[in-house]
Amino acid sequence: MSADLATTVAGLDLKNPVIAGSSEATAEPGQIRACLEAGAAAVVAKSVNESPAAHANLRAAEYVLLDEHLRARPLGPAQRMDSLFCRSGLLEVELAEWAETLATLDREAAQRDAYVVPSLIVAGLDRAVEAAATFESAGLRWLELNVGAPHASEAAEGIGAGVELVRRIRDAVSLPLTVKLAPDDSVADALAAGADAVCIATRAMGFVPDLTTRRPVLGTFAAVGGAWALPLTLYRVAKTHAAHPEASIVATNGARDGLDVARLLLAGASAVALASAVLTDGPAALGRAVEELAGYCEEQGTSVRDLIGEAAHHVQTYEEVAIERRH
Ligand SMILES: Cc1cc2nc3c(=O)[nH]c(=O)nc-3n(C[C@H](O)[C@H](O)[C@H](O)COP(=O)(O)O)c2cc1C
Repeated sequence: MSADLATTVAGLDLKNPVIAGSSEATAEPGQIRACLEAGAAAVVAKSVNESPAAHANLRAAEYVLLDEHLRARPLGPAQRMDSLFCRSGLLEVELAEWAETLATLDREAAQRDAYVVPSLIVAGLDRAVEAAATFESAGLRWLELNVGAPHASEAAEGIGAGVELVRRIRDAVSLPLTVKLAPDDSVADALAAGADAVCIATRAMGFVPDLTTRRPVLGTFAAVGGAWALPLTLYRVAKTHAAHPEASIVATNGARDGLDVARLLLAGASAVALASAVLTDGPAALGRAVEELAGYCEEQGTSVRDLIGEAAHHVQTYEEVAIERRH
């Protein structure tokens, strides 16, 4: 592989822009190692907090794939236009132990020029601040804080959301901080609160009635994502890049392969987090994405750093196009 895939996120140099996003596919040391072996430049571990309600939600989690006709089938290898529809919750761990486990994995990751990133979702803000400090003192090198989890709207408690949660965590630690945002969250506020990178954007909530039972699929509202979300994510990334050209953007939601990673780079992301593809097709999806991206860069005779924002820099207004067409 001769293409230059190097990139920088939150001030950290990454060997490539492919990140394993936080999910049930990054909840166990073996899974995290498999993502690293597959070639991911970073693996964001499944999010944690101290809330029993959030842990109960994970125990009651359910997942289905929906085909293009919204017919549900069990999780397994996915087609490009399948959606992943699911409820999820947070991992129940003893925090100091989890920090040690992730720090050990992160040292292994460093041997591969990669990172293992702990992820926090706030239940109690004081406990979240403590958790952030515990991760830092364990030696971890990067932290993600998700303040935009879609399930927050349905979970009775334990899944805090909102950009106002960022400041206290930021002040508690000096390690690079990525803040993961909901689609409508303010990037400007997240950056002002001290985010070193923003991850945009978390999935949407959905509702799917089953035509046979006339009841909701999974019995509840649930989060939904698919390749159909990619243009929406690309739009948000391009708009964010235009408004904050210096901001470090990790894109998530809708990328399924290396060409989708390239599209998100062209929109202005510096890296891309894939979760559904890893859940449905395993960690090998990450290695394939890196190879596809390398192939694309070689074919185009360009590098990852040069791709970042290139298409976004050439967006015209409707008026500009109308004037051009008149001439
Ligand atoms: C089953 C499942 C569990 C997830 N759990 C978490 C989580 O604990 N923390 C988090 O920040 N994001 C979580 N996510 C969101 C993913 O990291 C990712 O941002 C999102 O699924 C969009 O990317 P994708 O289209 O590649 O799936 C989860 C996603 C799925 C599908």
